Amino acid sequence: MSEKFDLFINGRWIQTDDKLEVLNKHTGKTYAEVSKAGEEEVDQAVKSAQKAYKSNGLSAYDRFEVLKKVSELLQENKEEFALSIVQEAGKPLKQAQTEVDRAAQTFELSAEEAKRLSGHGVPVNAAPGSENRMAFTIKMPVGVVGAISPFNFPLNLVAHKIAPAIAAGNAVVLKPASATPTTALRLARLFEEAGLPAGLLNVVVGSGSTVGKQMQKDERISLYTFTGSAEVGLKIKQNTGLNKLILELGNNSPVIVDKEADVAQAATNIAQKGFAYAGQVCISVQRVYVHESVKKDFQEKLLEAMKELKVGDPNDKDTDVGPMISEDEAKRAEDWVEDAKENGAEVLTGGERKGPLFYPTVLTNVTKNMKVVYDEIFAPVVSLLPYNDLEACIDELNESPYGLQGGIFTKNLDTAFYAARKVEVGGLMINDSSQYRVDLMPYGGVKDSGWGKEGPKYSIDEMTEERLVVMNLEN
Ligand code: SIN
Repeated sequence: MSEKFDLFINGRWIQTDDKLEVLNKHTGKTYAEVSKAGEEEVDQAVKSAQKAYKSNGLSAYDRFEVLKKVSELLQENKEEFALSIVQEAGKPLKQAQTEVDRAAQTFELSAEEAKRLSGHGVPVNAAPGSENRMAFTIKMPVGVVGAISPFNFPLNLVAHKIAPAIAAGNAVVLKPASATPTTALRLARLFEEAGLPAGLLNVVVGSGSTVGKQMQKDERISLYTFTGSAEVGLKIKQNTGLNKLILELGNNSPVIVDKEADVAQAATNIAQKGFAYAGQVCISVQRVYVHESVKKDFQEKLLEAMKELKVGDPNDKDTDVGPMISEDEAKRAEDWVEDAKENGAEVLTGGERKGPLFYPTVLTNVTKNMKVVYDEIFAPVVSLLPYNDLEACIDELNESPYGLQGGIFTKNLDTAFYAARKVEVGGLMINDSSQYRVDLMPYGGVKDSGWGKEGPKYSIDEMTEERLVVMNLEN
C-alpha cells in the first residue's frame, strides 16, 4: 500500500482527483500517491498566502518560536524524514540523515535571524538644508514568496527557501519537485504542529509546465526562489518580468590539484565529493585539473580511494552511491560517457549502468569541448584534465558558462590566493573540493549559475525590502 498525501492550502489538507504517483527510486515501485494541484488550487494557495501575509500578526519573536519548533520537530522525527528522502530521492541513508541534520540547522539559523532583522540610521542631516531631519531604515517583508525546489535535496533545499522567507515575515507558496514532493508535505505537517497561522505556508504539487508556470504568471507573488537547471532558470526569469529572483542554477564544478597539493588528501576528498548522491549535487566535483607532475600519483590514489565506495541499495547504512533519480537520467549519463569515448576519452573506472544505477566513473583523455566536461553532467562522473601552467589552466576552466563553487588543493598560499582572485565562482574552497557547504554560509553562483545568495542571513536580505523613514522635526 502506498502512502497518500494531499495539498496544503490555507492550513487545510486538500484532496484532488488528479493524482501524482511518486516512485521509490531504488525499486521503481509506487511509494506514494499525491493529490495534484489544478488552476483552482494554485489560485487558492496564492490567495491564502496573500491574505495571511496581509493579516499576519506574527511578531519576530513568534516567527523565531515557530521556526525553532520546526527545527526541534525535525530532530525528533529524523528517521521518518531520512527514510522519506531515501525512498523518494534514492539518496543513501547516511546522506539522507545528514540532510535532516542540516535542515534542522537551516531552521535554527533562520529562527535566530528572525530576531536580528534590523535597518540602520541614515545621517540625512549631513546634507545641506536637512539640518532638522532624522532618518532610519526598517526591513520589510516582500510579501508572497513563490518557491520552486529541486529533487536532489527534498528537505534542505526546501528549508533554504521557506525558513528564511517566514523568518522575514513573508508568506510562501511552495512547489516541490514532482519527483520528490512527499518530504515537503511532511514538513508542512510540522509547521501545522508548530502553530504557524493558516496561509503562511502553502504547498502545491504538480509539474513545472502547469503549476510552476501558473505561479510565475501570478502578479500577487513578489519574489521567486528557484533551484534547478540554468535552462529552467532562464525561462523563470523571462516569465516573471520585474519580480525579484533568487536563482541557484547549475555548475560543472572545477577542482585544481596543484603541484604542491597534498595528493592523498585531494584524492580521498574527491573520491567522496565527486560521487556522493550519485553526483546529483550542484557542487559535485566534475572537472579535476591536475598538474602533470602529480597526475600519475593522484590518479592511482583516486582509484584506490574509490574502491572504498559502496554502490547499491540506498537503504543500506553503508551505501555511498545509490541510484540516480530515474533510469532515463542514468541513460543520459551513459550517452554522454559513450559520446566522450567515441571522441577519444578513456574510462579509468566505471562507465557502466544497471537500471538507474550509474557506477562511479573517472575519465581521462578528455577535451574541453566534450559534454562531460563542458555541460553539467549531474551524475557520478569525474573527468581528469592535466595542466602545466596554472594561469592557462584557470583561463581554460573559466571558459565554462557556470560559476557556482570550485576548489583548489595546494600548500602554497600564493597559489591559493591567486586562484581565489582568478577563478570565476561564487565560492572557492582551499584544500577542499567544490562540494563544501554548511548552511550558514553565503551560497550562490556567478554567470549561468544564477544570482542572489542562499544561507538564511543572505536569503533574508533578498527576501526583504529596506524602507527608508525620514522625520522632519520642528526644531
Ligand atoms: C545544491 O545541489 O545546490 C545543494 C548543495 C548542498 O546544499 O549541499
